[in-house]
Amino acid sequence: MTGKAQVVVFASQKGGSGKTTVSAHMAVQAELSGAGPVALVDTDPQGSMAKWWNARASSVPAFARISVPDLGRDIKLLADAGYRLIIIDTPPAVTSTIAEVITHADLVVLPTRPSPHDLRAVGPTVDIVQMQGKPLVFVINSATARARITGETAVALSQHGTVAPVTLHHRVDFAASMIDGRTVGEVSDSSRSAVEVANLWAYLDDRLMRMRASDPRDLLDRPPRSTFEADILSPATAGMSGQEVEEDEDALENQPGYALAAAGAPPPPPGPAASANSNWDGIDRRKADSGPPPGKPDRRRASHQPFGRRFTA
Ligand SMILES: Nc1ncnc2c1ncn2[C@@H]1O[C@H](COP(=O)(O)OP(=O)(O)OP(=O)(O)O)[C@@H](O)[C@H]1O
Ligand SMILES: [Mg+2]
Repeated sequence: MTGKAQVVVFASQKGGSGKTTVSAHMAVQAELSGAGPVALVDTDPQGSMAKWWNARASSVPAFARISVPDLGRDIKLLADAGYRLIIIDTPPAVTSTIAEVITHADLVVLPTRPSPHDLRAVGPTVDIVQMQGKPLVFVINSATARARITGETAVALSQHGTVAPVTLHHRVDFAASMIDGRTVGEVSDSSRSAVEVANLWAYLDDRLMRMRASDPRDLLDRPPRSTFEADILSPATAGMSGQEVEEDEDALENQPGYALAAAGAPPPPPGPAASANSNWDGIDRRKADSGPPPGKPDRRRASHQPFGRRFTA
């Protein structure tokens, strides 16, 4: 731990895993929850974090222009200036520079997408972190709702370290909100993405608080995280308590009558039972099949044709 400030480094050799997105969101959420003042540091020459911050209307979290060789000195200056949390974004690489940044970390967060390519790429970053004996948390980012690979990714990662019990799902607002320097919560604080971000920060905040506690008795007064029970009970979707995992709105099995149609039965007739479970307003607007328009050939697939093939003969 460095003075009064804790340093969280977001690192991953894999490009596009979510380092900048997740670190910016955690910084804003930390300020919001009273864990600030927060200072952001961008050590990536691409400067994505700096560009996002420049587009921001709000001046919190603060942005600190620091070069890696001066990091140790400047972290101390920030701590002396009253910053309690320093969040560092890093480039997609495994270099001596990244290793140097990690030497200053109290906690390393490794975002990863739930894909085989991303999983294969985490090894070198994990090695650097473990060689330095730093605490590490994996965050599964950009997951597809209800995809089995998310749970499998969590299991695979858990062989190498702690996996955050909160998964960030793939949603357009993560990218869209950052265009003008905001976060998902600053666009809509009740969106599913915003809830996930708040829950992920609650988890990281809890980890950091436990590191800060010099006396175990400090921990006794603190109530457990509100999502703790849900996290324990279902690690793959944890942190999403109080909301459903995003449903695929077009999923075939969600369509009315799917189960019956799949079983070869006709759809149920409109009636009280149907109206209780659907938006049916009591008026049957389905039209009887009257065939093709007058004078036009019937081009609908004949029942003997295999699916997807056209017969010219
Ligand atoms: N949960 C998400 N849902 C949708 N889009 C996301 C999500 N997380 C990240 N993205 C998008 O994926 C892209 C890569 O994310 P980001 O820039 O945060 O990754 P990175 O690890 O910082 O990349 P680099 O390694 O190049 O610095 C961005 O366009 C971002 O908006
Ligand atoms: Mg980045």
